[in-house]
Amino acid sequence: MSRAPESPDPSTQKLTLPAIADMRAQNRRIVMLTAYDAPSARLAEAAGVDMILVGDSAGQVVLGARSTVPVTMDEMLVFTRAVTGVARRPFVVADMPFGSYQVSEDAAVQNAIRFFKEGAADAVKLEGAGRTLTRISGIVDAGVPVMGHIGLTPQSATLLGGYRAQGRTAAGARRLVQEAIALERAGCFAIVLEAMPAVVAERVTQAVRVPTIGIGAGPACSGQVLVWHDLLGLSPTPGPRFVKRYAELAPIITQAIEAYAADVRSGAFPTEAHTYGMPDAERERFMSDPALTRSR
Ligand code: KIV
Repeated sequence: MSRAPESPDPSTQKLTLPAIADMRAQNRRIVMLTAYDAPSARLAEAAGVDMILVGDSAGQVVLGARSTVPVTMDEMLVFTRAVTGVARRPFVVADMPFGSYQVSEDAAVQNAIRFFKEGAADAVKLEGAGRTLTRISGIVDAGVPVMGHIGLTPQSATLLGGYRAQGRTAAGARRLVQEAIALERAGCFAIVLEAMPAVVAERVTQAVRVPTIGIGAGPACSGQVLVWHDLLGLSPTPGPRFVKRYAELAPIITQAIEAYAADVRSGAFPTEAHTYGMPDAERERFMSDPALTRSR
């Protein structure tokens, strides 16, 4: 028999799918942020974010690749476990990497189940509509909640002609509305809208009942998501126009490391406060040990 966890404290209770749906229904904006390891997940939770996305952007911002394409299932599982190991209240969504859901419905379901079971994610995210729709319904049928993602879908940036905003023609905008409706029908509990005109995202948000989470999609979405390194000023470049850097941590971290390096070189670190001693008698015995004296 399964038992509900005994945790009456609402501040640490996992955000549920009905609670996320209620936020949309009550116009309470949803805060989502990416995180890829335990320290960032702890800080995101302490700051009160509602949802954490273990994005395949990890391939770029953590592993240094040029795009999100190379990151693997095994790498994404490591990032996901690091986050779910410490995140209590935030709802954790794991991004399915390129190649993990394109080949067949069976592979898509198996890989989604790995994120759910081995990664302890609360949901997975897949990019695109079209052929992705059958994968999404297969995964939802298997019991794993799915977040959709339309607009600029970085895994297919080459096909889209680069990292550029989508839905800037009437036909393109209409296609995005249709894709969102199809994703909702396929069973998505929420949809990321990336890089599209605000008016299009507003229309998409009106066309579906599930929450929309915007990134470069204007203020009418049900929530917003940003990449950890962009928000904190840890990315080497300013990033796309939709990024707002809320801090510039890179120079602060560099200064701290420079201060450490200077202290090591000058001998100012470590001091006695950072050093282990030993009882006087043991020290005396050790220092007068004839075996050690002889070996000099
Ligand atoms: O991988 C990621 O970080 C994402 C967000 C940009 C939505 O997919």
